[in-house]
Amino acid sequence: MHKHNNNLFKIIELLNDNRYHDGTSIGSTLDITRAGVWKSIQKIQKYGINIKSVKGKGYLLEAPLILLDYCKIKSSLKEKNIKLDIIEKIDSTNNYFKKDAIRSNGKVGVCISEMQTEGKGRMSRKWYSPFGKNIYLSILYSFQKDISELSGLSLIISLGVCRSIESLCQLNNKLSIKWPNDIVFEQQKIAGILIEIQAESNGFCNAIIGIGINVNMDEAHNKQISQKWTSLQKLTGQYYDRNFLCSGVINHTIEYLDRFMQFGLDNFIGEWVNKDYLFGKQIKVISGGNRISGVGSGINNSGHLILKMPEGTTTTLSSGDTTIVK
Ligand code: BTN
Repeated sequence: MHKHNNNLFKIIELLNDNRYHDGTSIGSTLDITRAGVWKSIQKIQKYGINIKSVKGKGYLLEAPLILLDYCKIKSSLKEKNIKLDIIEKIDSTNNYFKKDAIRSNGKVGVCISEMQTEGKGRMSRKWYSPFGKNIYLSILYSFQKDISELSGLSLIISLGVCRSIESLCQLNNKLSIKWPNDIVFEQQKIAGILIEIQAESNGFCNAIIGIGINVNMDEAHNKQISQKWTSLQKLTGQYYDRNFLCSGVINHTIEYLDRFMQFGLDNFIGEWVNKDYLFGKQIKVISGGNRISGVGSGINNSGHLILKMPEGTTTTLSSGDTTIVK
C-alpha cells in the first residue's frame, strides 16, 4: 500500500531539477488547479522543506529531495513475501504495528514514514524525525520462541544495520556499535534501534524492530538534538536516495534475523568483537538507577556487557546507558 499524497509526491518530483516552475504549468502537468498546487506547496513548506516562491518565475526547490517510493523499495527486496507500507506522517512507525487492525499474518511487515511526530528512542528519549530527511523504519517479525531466548536480538539487529550502512555507503569499517545498539562514528550517533516485543496468545511473539538512521540531515538541525550526532551526508558530503538504503537495510536485517533464529547469538560473537566500540575503554554505566564504572570487556553469550572492575573482578549488565570516561 502506498499512502503518499500523490500530488505532493509528483510536485516534488517535478521540482527536483533545481529550476523554477510556475503554478500554471505544474497544475496542467498534474491536472489540478493552481489553487490545488498552492495548497500542496504550502503543505510541503509546513513540513520544513524550503521552496522558494518568486513572482513571475514560480517555485524552486532549494535542495534536492527524493521521496520514499514504494515501487523502488519493493522491487529491490530479496524476500518477496513482505507487506510493505510507506506513509507520509505518523506518530511512530513502531506504533503502526501495535494497532489491532494491522496483523502480519505470518508475513514480515515493514512500515516506513517520511516523518514521525512522536519518534521514540531508548530510555524514554525522543527521536528527532523531520520530514524527508532520514529513515524511520519498523519491521514486524513474528516467531515461535520464548521471550527469554531473545536476549541478544537488539545486538544482532545493530550488527545487521551497521554492516548494511557500511556496505551501501562505502564506509568500510568506519562505524562501530556502542553496546547495546547505538551505531556510532567515533562518539557521534548515526543510527539507533528500539525493539518492542509483544507476546501473542498462540505461542507466537511479535518483535517490532524500529530503526532510525540519520541520512541527509545537516548542521541546521543541531539545536533539535541533544546527543552528539552525525548523518551519512555529514560523513560523506553526499545526498542519498533513501530508497536504495531502505531496501538494503531491510534485506540485511531480515538475513540477520533468520540467522539469529536458527543459530542464536553465538553465531555473531566474532562480528561483535570487530564492532565493539566500548572494548578496552573506561566507561560509566547507568543501569537500573545504579552507576557502575569499569573497563568494557566485550559481551557474554547472553549479550550482556562485561565490565572489568578496578579490583580485577568482572561484572555483567543486561541493560543500561553507557558513557565513556576520558
Ligand atoms: C535509540 O537509539 O534511542 C533508538 C532510536 C530508534 C528510532 C526509530 S525511528 C523508527 C522507529 N520508530 C520510533 O519511534 N523509534 C524507532
